[in-house]
Amino acid sequence: MNLLNGNEVSQVIRLQIKDEVSKIKSEGKKVPHLAAILVGEDGASKTYVAAKERDCQEVGFDSTVLRFDVSITETELLIEIEKINNNPEIDGLIVQLPLPKHINEKKITESISYKKDVDGFHPYNVGLMFKGLPTFLPATPYGIIKLLEHFQIETIGKHCVVIGRSDIVGKPMSALMLQKNCTVTVCHSRTIDLSKYTLDADIVIAAIGSPKFLKANMIKEGAVVIDVGITRVDDANSKKGFRLLGDVDFEDLSEKVSWITPVPGGVGPMTRVGLLLNTLEALGRK
Ligand code: GUN
Repeated sequence: MNLLNGNEVSQVIRLQIKDEVSKIKSEGKKVPHLAAILVGEDGASKTYVAAKERDCQEVGFDSTVLRFDVSITETELLIEIEKINNNPEIDGLIVQLPLPKHINEKKITESISYKKDVDGFHPYNVGLMFKGLPTFLPATPYGIIKLLEHFQIETIGKHCVVIGRSDIVGKPMSALMLQKNCTVTVCHSRTIDLSKYTLDADIVIAAIGSPKFLKANMIKEGAVVIDVGITRVDDANSKKGFRLLGDVDFEDLSEKVSWITPVPGGVGPMTRVGLLLNTLEALGRK
């Protein structure tokens, strides 16, 4: 078993970004600036946004977090987004999801300028991505591609099974693996006899949201396994009061796989670096 160590790879890429920022600064130019909108008090969302802010500071980007009360109306939020769309100082904008029920996420996503859409959620950017044209790739699939490339994981002609069909992970991941010349199967909660597919897979990408779901008896000897899951479970022994569990039963699979991502320290840090790469690219996209 070999570890697809996301902490290690993300550190290498962060240093490259830092170097790029130093170069931009030394030329007297503007550094990338990421704005994040956070609505309400969701604990996980607050943690993610704080991490994104820290990441920006670490590589030398400017960052702004706009926090709004859960009671903000959809119209008010749209006005705030339009202000950022028109602000030349800001290169990238993310609106942290999920949003409160009274706000239409689709409407909000589509209101972000596609030139600043560093999440890669705008339908225009989704279209470019599916066509294989240059655009912002959603951070998690982008990070996973970078991880596979770093470890030179062979993809040409391989059977990749993606479990999950979300707009954020499963759908874009399947498109990107197709571009990597994999034969791609997308499975999901309605798939009948999931093991039939996963047992044939050379690469399994699990984005299910069910802790320790993937077991050794579901995969082929020598498979490459990517675990996108991060479910918080209460843990009184942990300082934070919780710990993160992946979708993969790591111990069960460890003897059987050729490569596997740990949780934490696998896909998570690569997702964060994916957003940084997009923000750097946004600087040149205006
Ligand atoms: N909520 C969960 N994942 C994401 C993400 O990648 N971007 C945003 N904006 N919200 C999220």
